[in-house]
Amino acid sequence: MKRNPRAAFVAFLSVQLLLSIGSAQAGPAPGQAGIASAHPLATQAGYEMLAAGGNAFDAAIAVSAVLGVVEPYSSGLGGGAFWLLHLADEQRDVFVDAREVAPGAATPDMYLDADGVPVPGASFNGPLAAGIPGQAAGLAHLAEHYGRLPLAQLFAPAIRIAEEGFPVHRRLLLGLGFRRKTADRWPAFGAVYYPDGEIPEIGDTLRQPDLARTLRRLVSQGIGDFYTGELARLLVEGNRAGGGIWSLEDFAAYRVIEREPIGFFYRGVRIISAPLPSSGGIVIANTLNILDGYELDAVDSVTRKHLIIEAMRRAYRDRAEFLADGDFVDVPVARLLDKTYAAGQRTSIRIDRATPSDMLADIEPATGEGAHTTHFSVLDADGNRVAGTMTINSWYGSAFMAPGTGLLLNNEMDDFAVKPKVPNSFDLIGSVANAVAPGKRPLSSMSPTFLESGRGIAILGTPGGSRIISMVLLASLEWMRGGSAEEMVSLRRYHHQYLPDELSYETGALTDEEVAALEARGHNVRESRRPFGNMNVVTWDFGSGKVETATDPRAKIEGRVY
Ligand code: GLY
Repeated sequence: MKRNPRAAFVAFLSVQLLLSIGSAQAGPAPGQAGIASAHPLATQAGYEMLAAGGNAFDAAIAVSAVLGVVEPYSSGLGGGAFWLLHLADEQRDVFVDAREVAPGAATPDMYLDADGVPVPGASFNGPLAAGIPGQAAGLAHLAEHYGRLPLAQLFAPAIRIAEEGFPVHRRLLLGLGFRRKTADRWPAFGAVYYPDGEIPEIGDTLRQPDLARTLRRLVSQGIGDFYTGELARLLVEGNRAGGGIWSLEDFAAYRVIEREPIGFFYRGVRIISAPLPSSGGIVIANTLNILDGYELDAVDSVTRKHLIIEAMRRAYRDRAEFLADGDFVDVPVARLLDKTYAAGQRTSIRIDRATPSDMLADIEPATGEGAHTTHFSVLDADGNRVAGTMTINSWYGSAFMAPGTGLLLNNEMDDFAVKPKVPNSFDLIGSVANAVAPGKRPLSSMSPTFLESGRGIAILGTPGGSRIISMVLLASLEWMRGGSAEEMVSLRRYHHQYLPDELSYETGALTDEEVAALEARGHNVRESRRPFGNMNVVTWDFGSGKVETATDPRAKIEGRVY
């Protein structure tokens, strides 16, 4: 009988899981839970739900809704989300895909002029840049299938904060600086975020009455209103009046998809991460499979970094060539996850020399994806978990608000490949596989991830565009070396994404000596002026029973942020 490789792999995973985490505990010590998010008000809303008898999934809904209010530049009902769930009762992981989809009238050349040249900003600014939002449907899906509390209770903190306002913080202002020019073109956006035409001051109270009304409406009418009711009409009319191509049919057709996560083992640690249409899980698996051939802890720090960079280079190269929405194109997922494939990739790595990216097999490149996004992690006292990463793509998404809704529309269409050989604003390239098509989901890098071993569990993720994947990878390696949640979020980060062929690093990630040694091996090293990411981690240590939460020091709401 022919062996089914997928079934064999699943069986392998199950046995490995039992071996690696032994008698997995049902949950942390009684009363212990952990939530880490990018804003204290969101974290607080999550804890309120747990205190009210809700589970991790209820907490995740409340956290998601509040983040859309207090970080309107990162995520919201006008965008999309991935939530990776662990159901403790069933010992099962589920990936909830609420990614935006391209509207039915989208075409592969919709962002090109008559000469086939990309129109600057067309996939980035305004209504034409927006995919059909999935977050609202995703929250409804979580509430209906996994939560315990009613939507009125779950949305109450978000409604209250949208109505009563919250103190303006520095991150909010930096995004407004970035969006100043585009705001003038779309008055509904400017009216909320630039009161009296000015950027507000830190500590001012920001109220979002239209957003509060929309949230209230979803509670009273049900989330169906977003896709087939009055809200759908307002969104479509607003989008079209601004020059977009959305239709009511697009909204009626939107579906949340439950997918099987990517699961694999690296040196006794089980890693569960995002499947297509995210590139995250596949790229992390491929990178670690390549690294599995080396004793990373036995080599000097320069060689360790060199090997990690060379593995990233190869995995990101394959991302560029192959990865896209697997419901639309044939992606060789099994090959990319195969350890033998990784062994082949390893043969081209030299310990003493960087491989110039143009010496790897060429691809038919196109564009990639952007960076304004948010991540949170939740663990409840029963051991249920959520790693949620949500986005409207770049700062304030498309900077277009559908009038009367308070909802900022995403610019996720920029995550598609608008034209071969044209890198996007984050220098990421892709292939024709990721071309625009009606109903297709743009390739993402969002990588909500769980790590499981005999030591315990980590729940992690971060915003950061193409760097999300390398950040999750470095934090995972840190945890595998015994690092704490705090060490995972504080770790200085470096990154290579194949093209551009450069090793970028945050100040402090490499010493001067390491820079010199990596340059001597042929790496093109560049220090980045900006910190990378905003990671939020929850860990649970089986030995001590301790649950630890950690938020990224780079982006404290009070204090220095980028
Ligand atoms: N828009 C960011 C991502 O999905 O990766």
